[in-house]
Amino acid sequence: MDWNAHHGDHFRGARCLVTGGAGFIGSHIIEALVSLGAEVVALDDLSGGEWNNLDGFDDSVRTVTGSILDTDTLADCTAGCRYVFHEAALGSVPESVEMPVQYNQVNTNGTVNVLEAARQAGVQRVIYAGSSSAYGDPPDDGPKLEDMPVLPRSPYAAAKLAGEHMMRAWSLSYGIDTAVTRYFNIFGPRQNANSSYAAVIAAFATALLNNQAPTIYGDGEQCRDFTYVHNAVQANLLAARCDKPLEGEVFNTACAYSISINELYEKIAAQLGRQDLRPTYAEARAGDVRMSTANINKANKTIGYEPLVDFDTGLNTTVEWYRKVLTGTPAG
Ligand SMILES: NC(=O)c1ccc[n+]([C@@H]2O[C@H](COP(=O)([O-])OP(=O)(O)OC[C@H]3O[C@@H](n4cnc5c(N)ncnc54)[C@H](O)[C@@H]3O)[C@@H](O)[C@H]2O)c1
Repeated sequence: MDWNAHHGDHFRGARCLVTGGAGFIGSHIIEALVSLGAEVVALDDLSGGEWNNLDGFDDSVRTVTGSILDTDTLADCTAGCRYVFHEAALGSVPESVEMPVQYNQVNTNGTVNVLEAARQAGVQRVIYAGSSSAYGDPPDDGPKLEDMPVLPRSPYAAAKLAGEHMMRAWSLSYGIDTAVTRYFNIFGPRQNANSSYAAVIAAFATALLNNQAPTIYGDGEQCRDFTYVHNAVQANLLAARCDKPLEGEVFNTACAYSISINELYEKIAAQLGRQDLRPTYAEARAGDVRMSTANINKANKTIGYEPLVDFDTGLNTTVEWYRKVLTGTPAG
């Protein structure tokens, strides 16, 4: 992606902290910021990410292995920063059902720590990774709008939503500007396929490349607005650059297009030539929602967001990346 064509010199020389910088989305934000000439600090406790995710563009990045629960580390990392991109979190819905206290600790209290450190450091804007799980499973299956009621169904969703409210409250109480990019199923290279809670595209591609039948939870007719990671990066950069105060405004970050898990399986299996490996179906998972499609008009009007990469192009790139990493062979 030619980020310079979209953002010119805006980030050149700007010090930016990316929490969760060794993770999937954080590493892509860092890659973009480095190419734009920003001075990047990456903080991660490596509970879910790894510094290898920055291979190839980490020369100018200051990496700090530490937790957002450690206020001294946060004070050090936010010093002199213009922007904070807060991506660090525990990220699994089913795991949060098993470990609600830890999820609240990291995702809610950790977010308060990040805001406090940013406020004390005089940061211009904090951009927070929100989650579409905030919408829950309303009776109306239509596209989700930011002003709809929030109905979190899992400890993960509730804690991520608490973080969104903190963004708004810190802006209105202390004047530090904030914004929320509310992500809808972000996917792309470097998404963790090793955890037992791997996101579905990573899990399907990995299973098929390992000659295994993927597992679909529920009947597979649940739909998701799968969003290639460069679109999430773009939303973050646009939210950071916006010249009006955003005061904790929430922006759906998605493609406004959704497909079912069954269709997704068919597309990945076709790309890998493994339609012979039919999926097995398991019981639906606690906290999973049925339909998830975004309306992205507000993000478009306020920060000029529109998806840069469509679903099929993103899926192609991603599946090829898993093929290369897992088999060492590009498409023949
Ligand atoms: N991937 C998605 O589809 C999606 C959807 C909605 C929201 N989000 C949010 O986006 C953000 C990034 O998610 P991701 O998909 O890149 O996941 P990820 O697990 O790859 O990245 C999260 C990173 O946070 C780090 N981390 C966890 N606890 C920490 C702590 N206490 N201190 C410092 N670092 C810590 C992990 O080690 C990991 O590297 C998260 O806040 C997540 O809730 C992601």
